[in-house]
Amino acid sequence: MPDSGRRAIDPADGKLGVLCVGLGAVTSTLIAGVELARRGLGEPIGSLTQMGTIRLGRRTEPRVPLIRDFVPLAGLDDLVFGAWDPFPDDAYVAASRAGVLEIGRHVEPVGDALRAVRPMPAAFDPAYVKRIDGPNVKPSTRKRAMLEGISADIEAFRSEHLVDRMVMIWCASTEAYIEPGDVHADLEAFEAGIDADDPRIAPSMLYAYAALQAGIPFANGAPNLTVDVPALRSYATDRGVPIAGKDFKTGQTLIKTVIAPMLKARMLGLSGWYSTNILGNRDGEVLDDPESFKTKEESKLGVLEDVLEPDRYPQLYGDVYHKVRINYYPPRGDNKEGWDNVDLFGWLGYPMQLKIDFLCRDSILAAPLALDLCLLLDVAQRARLGGIQEWLSFYFKSPQVGPGLYPEHDLFIQQTKLKNTLRWLMGEEQITHLGIDYYLDGDDLR
Ligand SMILES: NC(=O)c1ccc[n+]([C@@H]2O[C@H](COP(=O)([O-])OP(=O)(O)OC[C@H]3O[C@@H](n4cnc5c(N)ncnc54)[C@H](O)[C@@H]3O)[C@@H](O)[C@H]2O)c1
Repeated sequence: MPDSGRRAIDPADGKLGVLCVGLGAVTSTLIAGVELARRGLGEPIGSLTQMGTIRLGRRTEPRVPLIRDFVPLAGLDDLVFGAWDPFPDDAYVAASRAGVLEIGRHVEPVGDALRAVRPMPAAFDPAYVKRIDGPNVKPSTRKRAMLEGISADIEAFRSEHLVDRMVMIWCASTEAYIEPGDVHADLEAFEAGIDADDPRIAPSMLYAYAALQAGIPFANGAPNLTVDVPALRSYATDRGVPIAGKDFKTGQTLIKTVIAPMLKARMLGLSGWYSTNILGNRDGEVLDDPESFKTKEESKLGVLEDVLEPDRYPQLYGDVYHKVRINYYPPRGDNKEGWDNVDLFGWLGYPMQLKIDFLCRDSILAAPLALDLCLLLDVAQRARLGGIQEWLSFYFKSPQVGPGLYPEHDLFIQQTKLKNTLRWLMGEEQITHLGIDYYLDGDDLR
């Protein structure tokens, strides 16, 4: 992108409504964390927008502001949370049930704020999430009725909480696998599909469509197809509404998108990569259903091929055995353990192995990503960047890109892209790390 002066960005005045689809482990951890940070009772660790800095200008210039001081983001005090869920539990009960946060230390101190977030009845159809069966659902599973119900909820939330802007984020369960088809090809087919109750239109697509119709940016934290179909992508572009997805990049895929680019950078070969994990939260239970697992598997499997480009490097990556397993194991709750076994080879083909054991916490890793996405999509909206926000690939396992483009998975290229987009938005020079000052006279230090 060329340096072109500062882009006009509307100020972040007033309240930002954050509409979360799903009030489970990730959403309740997000809301509690934001509330704790507001009250000075916790640090928003893992959030680039809250903790990260950005270097500006030449290396000799001491300009490295915090990102939140550099870009006009909404402040944490201005966020107002809303949610939908088929279970009627408020965010306090959801956080207690999810078992991610310590009750005495991180739930009770913000209990008032958590109890205030009560889920709206979900646009839910058990055909798409087999392991969930809650009573707090809209009266009809007819698609048109669900769409109209979501739109009515959005407007009711707007007037009740007097928010000036909104963003919507899918933090709900992973839906059953759906292939993109003719019903998703354009808006006319999609509209007809809604009226015909076409099974290829999942509830997540209805939430996304309702958001876009209301001019609300939408992020997809799960691997469902959702807004990644031509009809909704084009609609977002035409309406100038930002979209981003899909599937938060948290545990093993985060590791994979750091290790695989390293192997490729050193031209080391790969013969196999076996990833398995145990996970005992509700997400793990939903993913225990083969149809939901297939959606997740597709999202996780694409990464290695995209990073390693086997067509370009057939001797190194032409024959990789890649396996991804997810195992529901209740005793561990949200504290996932992920094992990766990497079989690689080096000079003259000699084999080596790498073993990674990541004892992580799923929602502790996901909540800061959800926060950043909400704040950055809101900036994108105020800067009038509609359609796919490829610069937010940093946050996703399966980044959305325009037709004919391949997704960028390398975490550090994603980070550079994100920061250069922020520089571009604010009219600052791009940083190329060229260091041309070593070779040229003058003071062109970059
Ligand atoms: N935590 C992570 O590290 C991580 C990483 C990547 C993706 N994700 C995805 O994020 C999502 C949320 O994860 P979680 O751990 O909070 O799961 P969770 O099971 O705790 O919460 C999901 C909630 O969504 C609700 N729900 C299901 N269908 C709904 C619908 N149609 N409308 C409204 N609510 C609905 C469920 O009742 C549940 O309460 C999952 O899809 C998960 O795969 C999580």
